[in-house]
Amino acid sequence: MTPQPSPEAGAAVKAADRAHVFHSWSAQDLIDPLAVAGAEGSYFWDYDGTRYLDFTSGLVFTNIGYQHPKVVAAIQEQAAKLTTFAPAFAVEARSEAARLIAERTPGDLDKIFFTNGGADAVEHAVRMARLHTGRPKVLSAYRSYHGGTQQAVNITGDPRRWANDSGSNGVARFWAPFLYRSRFYSETEEQECARALEHLETTIAFEGPATIAAIILESIPGTAGIMMPPPGYLAGVRELCDKYGIVFILDEVMAGFGRTGEWFAADLFGVVPDLMTFAKGVNSGYVPLGGVAISRKIAETFGTRPYPGGLTYSGHPLACAAAVATINVMAEEGIVENAKRLGESVVGPGLAELAARHPSVGEVRGVGMFWALELVRDRETREPLVPYNASGEANAPMAAFTAAAKRHGLWPFVNMNRTHIAPPCNATEAELKEGLAALDAALTVADEHTV
Ligand SMILES: Cc1ncc(COP(=O)(O)O)c(C=O)c1O
Repeated sequence: MTPQPSPEAGAAVKAADRAHVFHSWSAQDLIDPLAVAGAEGSYFWDYDGTRYLDFTSGLVFTNIGYQHPKVVAAIQEQAAKLTTFAPAFAVEARSEAARLIAERTPGDLDKIFFTNGGADAVEHAVRMARLHTGRPKVLSAYRSYHGGTQQAVNITGDPRRWANDSGSNGVARFWAPFLYRSRFYSETEEQECARALEHLETTIAFEGPATIAAIILESIPGTAGIMMPPPGYLAGVRELCDKYGIVFILDEVMAGFGRTGEWFAADLFGVVPDLMTFAKGVNSGYVPLGGVAISRKIAETFGTRPYPGGLTYSGHPLACAAAVATINVMAEEGIVENAKRLGESVVGPGLAELAARHPSVGEVRGVGMFWALELVRDRETREPLVPYNASGEANAPMAAFTAAAKRHGLWPFVNMNRTHIAPPCNATEAELKEGLAALDAALTVADEHTV
């Protein structure tokens, strides 16, 4: 579809937004949201007719791209049939979505509790773990993001927690492995893995194993930097959880549903958690939906004892119909396989080639359609291109990179000193190459800020 310019309509959208919409995570007077006129597949466009290739998949959720016709039709059909229904009833779309998800989740994660998104999935997973173990505390990683609600943001490791952190939310934090910026002075992945596990076990010992309900980790930390856990790390955490009777929660809100070239990132590592949270890709974000996949033993805890939690819209039929259609489309169109294949053959090699030519690229890491470029001022010292949590003038090099990418028709995902490459999982080879070319141009701007 060719975008039709309509600047007056765009101005009206923008004016009403600025007058009445209160945006997430923002100083309201300092933002300038782009008015979006439409979107299709891997692209969206504004009211001036400028089109962008979306390497962010929204907020890493449009795993099948925008406006997939089969999923749009399924939503329309469900709206005509049964738009909504209360959660206490058995409803076809809800039952089918739960069945399709449970068939794909690893191990015995066979019961699905539906939420409205990722943060509330994390809230409920933690609540289930606390009730199951009778213990109060949660261990989470410093480099993590788990959502914006009160408990989830307190589990989160990034600076968005700080203003919400009362210091009394039953969370203790540890360092997960990340060789490029190792907290353990490691030189190899093997060392990083062994030392991170030793550090975690020491943390458990000093926190008191009998006080710890859960360890929560993103299978591959997303917003915090797409750090691939070294081989053996997640299996090692699984062992520690078993040893100390701790519930293992994997957060697959961002990494799940095809993003890594597997249905779930846990499949890359052959690990089965006790609880697994999901959202985003489950229905490509077409209608808000998240959930917790629950193992048999935790489900049994609530066999005859009521689970003290729920939501009016748990398993909303419209959202569940979108999930059913999305999962079926992903299977029929080989979208998970596409992410794996083009991740290996196009994105990975393409980014490596950019890294070889651009001194601002410190590291390339990722898998499938889930990659990060770590941008640095100095490759030797690994000094980040901008300081941690920089804003204003201190963030100017990343702002210049972002602006350059947009000038070249690419909407980039930018977080601190990194750009993440997270196109839809069904992006084509031509689209990916177009995005890599735009990144090439934007990195030339980043290079100007290296030493
Ligand atoms: C790993 C992870 N967990 C939880 C969340 C929170 O999800 P939501 O924004 O749907 O509440 C996110 C969102 O980015 C996420 O990436």
